[in-house]
Amino acid sequence: MSATNGASGEAMLVIDGVHTYYGQIHALRGISLTVAQGEIVTLIGANGAGKTTTLKTVSGMLHPRAGRVRFEGDDISKLPAHKLVERGIGHAPEGRRIFPRLTVLENLQMGAFSRRDVKDLGPDLDRVFTLFPRLLERTAQLGGTLSGGEQQMLAIGRALMSQPRVLLLDEPSLGLSPILVQQVFETIKDINRQGTTVLLVEQNALQALSIAHRGYVLQTGEVVLTGSAESLRQNETVRKAYLGED
Ligand SMILES: Nc1ncnc2c1ncn2[C@@H]1O[C@H](COP(=O)(O)OP(=O)(O)OP(=O)(O)O)[C@@H](O)[C@H]1O
Ligand SMILES: [Mg+2]
Repeated sequence: MSATNGASGEAMLVIDGVHTYYGQIHALRGISLTVAQGEIVTLIGANGAGKTTTLKTVSGMLHPRAGRVRFEGDDISKLPAHKLVERGIGHAPEGRRIFPRLTVLENLQMGAFSRRDVKDLGPDLDRVFTLFPRLLERTAQLGGTLSGGEQQMLAIGRALMSQPRVLLLDEPSLGLSPILVQQVFETIKDINRQGTTVLLVEQNALQALSIAHRGYVLQTGEVVLTGSAESLRQNETVRKAYLGED
């Protein structure tokens, strides 16, 4: 897979020397990474390493204090989250932030809220229901009464409704049964095959590396290792620290 995109020669998403803080807490300490169009790139790392913070810094929920985030050649570091959804960055955040008092259908419609062409949601709803048939059976059910796994599907489906060119997924397999974990990873592959670039955060490093093209290992706010998914799977440090081998 080429690491470049278009005439500019730059990857679709470029995180360049980013430092992000929560008040005094220095959570990202100079993170640099790229995601080329068409790739699945995974971020792995222990609890607190900065994975969620990295996704939030890309989607505009947080802004870097130093460094830059570029998307399709433009500096987006200072843009608010809603502008970034309009530009094609979809984010399914950690912890399935769906609207519990809205129905499944209403949650999906909310996902398209920032789009200008909200009239014809049919093809996008069809896509989501094809990826997640479970949601089609439950269009009228309140989001808050879905099972954990179903809420996870709804969160991913809602992010897809904004027609993202890059989809940021934060722990999509968290709390799912083994069969559902398998299904969610298959679905992420399908989403990618349909043309959406994916930046995937996972605790489940083995599964993530089995569908990703490349990966980055984060440790206390820094990238400590990067390479093809295959090379990371073979890497001794990764195997010990993140794949549960001893
Ligand atoms: N709202 C916040 N206020 C203060 N510190 C925060 C906040 N959110 C995260 N942090 C800190 O920033 C660091 C990075 O957190 P982050 O959530 O990005 O980690 P993570 O890699 O996603 O971890 P996990 O695997 O547990 O989800 C941690 O030290 C965390 O305590
Ligand atoms: Mg996290």
